[in-house]
Amino acid sequence: MAKATTTFSCTKCAATYPKWSGRCDNCGEWNSIIEDKGLSAGPPSKSLGNKRGNAMTLSDLSSHEDPPPRTESGLAELDRVLGGGLVPASAILVGGDPGIGKSTLLLQAAGAFANRGLSTVYISGEEASAQVRMRAQRLGLSDAPVRLAAETNLRDILTTLEAERPQLAIIDSIQTMWADNVDSAPGSVSQVRAAAHELTSFAKRRGTSVILVGHVTKDGQIAGPRVVEHMVDTVLYFEGERGHQFRILRSVKNRFGPADEIGVFEMTGRGLAEVSNPSALFLSERGEPSAGSVVFAGVEGTRPVLVELQALVAPSPHSQPRRAVVGWDSSRLAMILAVLEARCGIPFAGLDVYLNVAGGMKISEPAADLAVAAALLSAREDVALPAETVVFGELSLSGALRPATQTENRLKEAQKLGFTSAIAPKGGKPVGVDGITLRPMGDLTGFVGEIFGAG
Ligand code: TYD
Ligand code: MG
Repeated sequence: MAKATTTFSCTKCAATYPKWSGRCDNCGEWNSIIEDKGLSAGPPSKSLGNKRGNAMTLSDLSSHEDPPPRTESGLAELDRVLGGGLVPASAILVGGDPGIGKSTLLLQAAGAFANRGLSTVYISGEEASAQVRMRAQRLGLSDAPVRLAAETNLRDILTTLEAERPQLAIIDSIQTMWADNVDSAPGSVSQVRAAAHELTSFAKRRGTSVILVGHVTKDGQIAGPRVVEHMVDTVLYFEGERGHQFRILRSVKNRFGPADEIGVFEMTGRGLAEVSNPSALFLSERGEPSAGSVVFAGVEGTRPVLVELQALVAPSPHSQPRRAVVGWDSSRLAMILAVLEARCGIPFAGLDVYLNVAGGMKISEPAADLAVAAALLSAREDVALPAETVVFGELSLSGALRPATQTENRLKEAQKLGFTSAIAPKGGKPVGVDGITLRPMGDLTGFVGEIFGAG
């Protein structure tokens, strides 16, 4: 009999270890390593190559494949993030913080797909069927032909799916699923991994699209969605700030479409409403032009999005001034502060710096560099930027500005929302948009001189 082995794995990144340790060497997380019972570790005792398998037929790269047929839900924000609708036999992971609205989104999606003729099964491991029905009522979906079950036993679920052969199965959530052949608690790395593996292979085998819900976890006791990211075709994250109404569905991986696409929704009393013009929403709380506030003309996936950046710079009472960022990368902020100091001679030593992306949006685009620099300078000098101006451009360490992608899209969006001028990097393909005065900048020093009249 094979010796029973115990391995340990990280609940954040799924790295495995033969021994427990306090910190994961792979991702650096503390207290995330837990025991993984029942998973045999190590290589198989006999090499596979020694035994004869079946010879496969190999094919050419040039063989013709039709693009996958897609079904649209009719929820345009969801369809775009999926790459133009749902692909049969695809496995999709929807991750997000508990309470952010994943179950609401997926019940709405289930209703929408079912109403379009897709046979749809919704399996909840977290709520009783009655609860799901009540939610459906609230969402106005009581009549949608969605089949419902409340179950966590994976064997029963697979048997049911084999019998029903639905076109879409939604599993809410992967952390509540329990495979009886794996000897550890639901939510552990090995359970989550086993359940995801069974369900994705069912998807491939039977042509059912499977959507898995995964909670992002902070305490490390339950395995997070990271553990299954590599097994699925598409990974979507549902994000948002607690105090804000809107939610962003972001594709971080998609084998059937572009990654980095976003869909914007607003949480209302009757479920999630689509936001077809996010810029208007993100700018809706903007007041009079003031020092420290800058509108960044960004692009998320294929869509331009305008957001307001707010900076506050104040003398610090601390020996080590504070640098706090919400919605942007803090090391990128440190870089911009360093460039401002080294290339333009504008020090931030002894000053606390706060940067906030208004409305709870998260920005990862490097083209936000110039907008951030503008917000910091505007806050520091207590000078508002010219009214009705948008800013974008990537900054290099030398202080030079690099042309951004999709300049025309950005300018058109700005024009649509009533802006009249744009501060953007020089160079690249010249573009003009009626109603927008372009103010091209070669480097940061030039920008500081022209906009703030100082160096
Ligand atoms: P839920 O979808 O249960 O979150 P998750 O599955 O990600 O844990 O969403 C829960 C929150 O959404 C809850 O705080 C209530 C709110 N909500 C609304 O505001 N309106 C609605 O119509 C619904 C169904 C939920
Ligand atoms: Mg839920």
